[in-house]
Amino acid sequence: MRHLLSTEHLERNVLEALLNEADDFAEVLTRPIPKVPALRGKTVATMFFEPSTRTRMSFEKAAKALSADTVSFSPGTSSLSKGESLKDTALTVHAMGVDLMVVRHKATGAPWRLAEWLDIPIVNGGDGAHQHPTQALLDCLTIKQRFGSLEGLTIAIVGDIRHSRVARSNIFAMATLGAKVILVGPPTLLPIDSEAWPVTVSHDLDEVLEVLDVVYLLRVQTERGGGSVFPSLSEYTARYGMTSERFARLRPDAVVMHPGPMNRGVEIGHDVADDERSLVLAQVTNGVAARMAVLFDLLGGDDVA
Ligand code: CP
Repeated sequence: MRHLLSTEHLERNVLEALLNEADDFAEVLTRPIPKVPALRGKTVATMFFEPSTRTRMSFEKAAKALSADTVSFSPGTSSLSKGESLKDTALTVHAMGVDLMVVRHKATGAPWRLAEWLDIPIVNGGDGAHQHPTQALLDCLTIKQRFGSLEGLTIAIVGDIRHSRVARSNIFAMATLGAKVILVGPPTLLPIDSEAWPVTVSHDLDEVLEVLDVVYLLRVQTERGGGSVFPSLSEYTARYGMTSERFARLRPDAVVMHPGPMNRGVEIGHDVADDERSLVLAQVTNGVAARMAVLFDLLGGDDVA
């Protein structure tokens, strides 16, 4: 790989190699000294033009666990407020001597522009409602650890799919790895182009509940207009929320996932979020190992064996 911008055209052998590498790094992270010298001398820049807790911090932790240095850009305290453009900002940070940039931006396609402007690997840390490929990797890693493989699993992605970069990345990664993906949500929260995707669609969560291995819940993205297309949050919860009642109807080995941040009491019940079959915190933990695999792959690190 030269960059990691999208999961849409990632081949199965590439995804599987990244997941195997991530599994190895997950073991590294359990050691008393959770660090290897693989990327010593490299510098990773995190360029987050939108808020983040999980993605930004886990990339920083991943880089440090590989012995890379990190530099961090924050728009609120940067010269963006003086009118500096995205391109000049990227060129400026690059000129300091960074080897890889992780970019999150509200504009779809922004990481592709950086990949044109700069001759270093770019990782998409989330662009608008378009793609969030490392989220899909950590989610597939979490499912693989629980079930052994994604092959033959039935996974429902539930909620605000229209505004979700997480959904777009997961659909392609999960389907490529052999899962059957069902998109579940009201018509107003489903994209019009979903017919071109490797998915089936349902508007009734209760109808599919009992065949699912994984229920992947999405936050309603009010900041992208997701809250304005149904009458009220309580109506949304009544039809699409993972309440305790719905959770009790799932198969005994089925699990619940969520990329965070969660809106407890809306798309996921308080008790469900804290249940042993909620993998939310395992997803966060796996974010570090999955991102180590991506950094290692893109920066051609030394073998860590
Ligand atoms: N899942 C996710 O991308 O979380 P953050 O916005 O906190 O990075």
